[in-house]
Amino acid sequence: IPKHYEDDLEDIMIPSGLIDDRVERLARNICQDFGHADHLVALCVLKGGYKFFADLLDKIKQLNRNIEHSVPISIDFIRVKSYVDDQTSDEVQILGVDNLDNITGKNVLIVEDIVDTGKTMERLLKHLEQYKPKRVRVTSLLVKRTKGSTGYRPDYIGFEIPCRFVVGYALDYNEHFRDLGGVRGTRDREQDGGDSCHLI
Ligand code: PRP
Ligand code: MN
Ligand code: MG
Repeated sequence: IPKHYEDDLEDIMIPSGLIDDRVERLARNICQDFGHADHLVALCVLKGGYKFFADLLDKIKQLNRNIEHSVPISIDFIRVKSYVDDQTSDEVQILGVDNLDNITGKNVLIVEDIVDTGKTMERLLKHLEQYKPKRVRVTSLLVKRTKGSTGYRPDYIGFEIPCRFVVGYALDYNEHFRDLGGVRGTRDREQDGGDSCHLI
């Protein structure tokens, strides 16, 4: 880890090699399911989703060399924000980056870093309905087991993690730690002992 982060972080929870293997497996599953689609719009949920998105699309690109699973892909970005410190706010802000008319009538794959309470994704899915996509699927690298969950489950899940506040691999705490390779817990986060965090 970089020196400036040493005091704030716990041992590695998911090393980057393990993430890499899992992302490849997810890419395979996604290519199999969308293999007969004419076109796929991959929608990255910024900022947290950027690393998973880039790595997942790299793997899909490699698989696309195999003609059987070849899927033409275009990419789009959307900015969604709800967390300040380690607390989710009830206000989920959706800031479009590109023209979402691009998804009308298309197969869409939303790529997210983590589903925690599920509020962000439920809100985003509702927001996208007005553009009338053909089919929407969601992949999230991480899903947290939290008591505060709305019950929402993404279609493709990388890892289920315990109820800790995690950072790294583009996940942040107030914009810090996105530059770490693997996923780590943070020290002294209230959430770890908090009410929302009893394992379910
Ligand atoms: C984080 C994370 C997810 C969302 C999950 O984003 O990247 O998008 O929160 O939380 P939820 O399931 O409880 O709604 P954040 O709001 O921190 O913005 P960021 O991606 O820019 O860090
Ligand atoms: Mn996010
Ligand atoms: Mg964040």
